Amino acid sequence: MDLSQARAALKAARRVAVLTGAGISAESGIPTFRDAQTGHWARFRPEDLASPDAYRRDPDLVWEWYAGRYRDVLAAQPNRGHELLAELERRKGAGFFLATQNVDGLHARAGSGSAGGELVELHGNLLQARDELTGEVFPLAAPDELTLPPLSPGGQRMRPHIVWFGEYLPVDALDAAQRAFAGAEVALVIGTSSVVYPAAGLAAETLRRGGAVIEINPEATDLTPVATFSLRESASRGLELLLDDA
Ligand code: OAD
Repeated sequence: MDLSQARAALKAARRVAVLTGAGISAESGIPTFRDAQTGHWARFRPEDLASPDAYRRDPDLVWEWYAGRYRDVLAAQPNRGHELLAELERRKGAGFFLATQNVDGLHARAGSGSAGGELVELHGNLLQARDELTGEVFPLAAPDELTLPPLSPGGQRMRPHIVWFGEYLPVDALDAAQRAFAGAEVALVIGTSSVVYPAAGLAAETLRRGGAVIEINPEATDLTPVATFSLRESASRGLELLLDDA
């Protein structure tokens, strides 16, 4: 498959499934998980903050770290890549499905999930917290009104609404993603290293059912050798090239 064939396949497809990772937010200046460990936080490994054990040991410390990342993502803006995926959703309507591994909420802010298709945040969302007792999810207060740890309207302590190391992905979200990728004529895999489950598994599902997998990533990944077509570009440039006429 070459670029013009990839463009034609995407244009013709009625069912499109997309998986994004940290790379699509790079152009918004959101540091990746590991790059976020600067200054005071450089002495912690992400695994020592983003885990149920860490939270049991020191909830205030974990909340401080998440509150910092929350402020960072609110200060950032969705980029052209996020916008083009919202545009693709407008064109495909109910046939469009987007699964993201990112917790920055930028896809939703660009309009994804409310343009006729579906958005699923596989790893949760930095802008939300959930009641530790009931599991109910609430938006965090604005940064200047945020008190830590945040309490639910019922007065219970809340934890970050994030899938931590050692925790399972939400079953409903994963099921929906697996169905969408199995049924997709074209799957796009954008800005993810494709080493962490479920990235590799979702694309394999599309290929197994005869669909095409198009990767956009400036670097080669484990998915590259099996992808139907691989665009060695940034997320925004790659989407511009693909959507030219989709
Ligand atoms: P990674 O940090 O593993 O990979 C980011 C990918 O983005 C790499 O393959 C880069 O080559 C690519 N990239 C960099 N700049 C880009 C750009 N401008 N446009 C497109 N791609 C670009 O991030 P993820 O694959 O998202 O899990 O990582 C998946 C999960 O692993 C994360 O959600 C996190 C981590 O452990 C949890 O937090 C549970």
